[in-house]
Amino acid sequence: MITFNSVTKTFAENMIAVNDVSLTIEKGKLVTLIGPSGCGKTTTMKMINKLIPITSGTITIDGKDISEENDVELRRNIGYVIQRIGLLPHMTIEENVSLVPRLKGWKKETYEKRVDELLDLVGLEPNLYKKRYPLELSGGQQQRVGVIRALAGEPPIILMDEPFSALDPISREQLQDELKSLQKSIQKTIVFVTHDMDEALKVADEIVVMKDGGIQQIASPQSLIQHPANDFVRSFIGEERVNRASRNKEERLASSIMKSLIQGNVPKDFPVLSQDSSLQEVARVILLNKSDGAILCDQTGQPKGIIEKNQLLHELAGIPEGV
Ligand SMILES: Nc1ncnc2c1ncn2[C@@H]1O[C@H](COP(=O)(O)OP(=O)(O)O)[C@@H](O)[C@H]1O
Ligand SMILES: [Mg+2]
Repeated sequence: MITFNSVTKTFAENMIAVNDVSLTIEKGKLVTLIGPSGCGKTTTMKMINKLIPITSGTITIDGKDISEENDVELRRNIGYVIQRIGLLPHMTIEENVSLVPRLKGWKKETYEKRVDELLDLVGLEPNLYKKRYPLELSGGQQQRVGVIRALAGEPPIILMDEPFSALDPISREQLQDELKSLQKSIQKTIVFVTHDMDEALKVADEIVVMKDGGIQQIASPQSLIQHPANDFVRSFIGEERVNRASRNKEERLASSIMKSLIQGNVPKDFPVLSQDSSLQEVARVILLNKSDGAILCDQTGQPKGIIEKNQLLHELAGIPEGV
C-alpha cells in the first residue's frame, strides 16, 4: 500500500506542482492518475520512487517512510515504464529485460527462464526476439518489452507514465488489454499516469482525477462517470460519457417509455403498477381501468416496461405470442 500524507511539491516560490495531496493506493490495485497537462501527474508519480524529492508531507510504502529508504534499493523494487520506452539500445531484448534481476543477483538460469516467461506473456516468441536489439522491433513490440522489463525483477509496485501514448491506436488497445489481464494474474500495485479518459476507464480499478496539483475526485471508473464530483470532473470526463452512463439498459427502456408517453404512443390512461405485481393483479387492474395495458415501475416509481392486454392474455394462458 502506498500512502501520501499531505504531500506538496514546489519547484520554485510560485511553482506549486503538487499541492497537499493525500491518497491511499491499495496493494494489488491499478490506479490511474488523470488530468490535464501540467496538473502534476508525473510529479506525483516520480515522488514515489524519489526521482523527485518531496517538499513537505510524507509518502509511505507499507507503512515505511520512503525518505528513510535507500534510493537505489527503493527503485529496484519499483518498476518504472515511461512513454518513450527507454530500452537500452546497445543491449539485446534479453539483456534489457534481465537488467534488474541481474542487478539483484539472480542466478543465470533463473533470470533466463524469467525472460522467456515474460516474453511469452506479451506474445513475443522468446527464441525469435530475445537476441534482437530494440531497434529491430516495432514501437508496439518495444513498448511490450518496456512493460515486461518493469515486471522482471518482480517489484511489488510498478509506475507507468503515459506508457502507451506514443503508440498507434491498435497497439495501444492491445497493450491496454494485455496490461489488464497481466495485472489480474500478477496482482501488482500499479500507478498509471494517462491523460486519456478512455484509457483510464478501461484499465483502472480506481481513477484519481487531478487539477492544478490537487485531487478533484477518487473513484472507480463506473462511479466516476455515474457520479462526477464537480463540474471540472464532469467536463473532463465529457458530457457525452456522463449521459451515456446515466442511461444504463433499464433506464434507456424507461426513457423510451417516457418518450412514447410524451409522443402519445403509450396511452396516458395506462395504469401504473409495481413490476413485482402478479399477472393476476395486473389483469385485474387493467380490467378495472378498461385500459389496453399497464406500465410497470420499480420501487422508486421509475417506469421499467409496459405490458399490453394481449400480451398479458398470452402470458396467463401460457401460450406464446404469435400462436
Ligand atoms: N523540474 C521542474 N522544474 C520546474 N517546474 C516543473 C518541473 N517539473 C515539472 N514542473 C512543473 O510542475 C507542474 C506539473 O508538472 P507535471 O507533474 O510534469 O505535470 P503532468 O505530468 O500532469 O503533465 C507543471 O506546471 C510543470 O511545468
Ligand atoms: Mg506528465
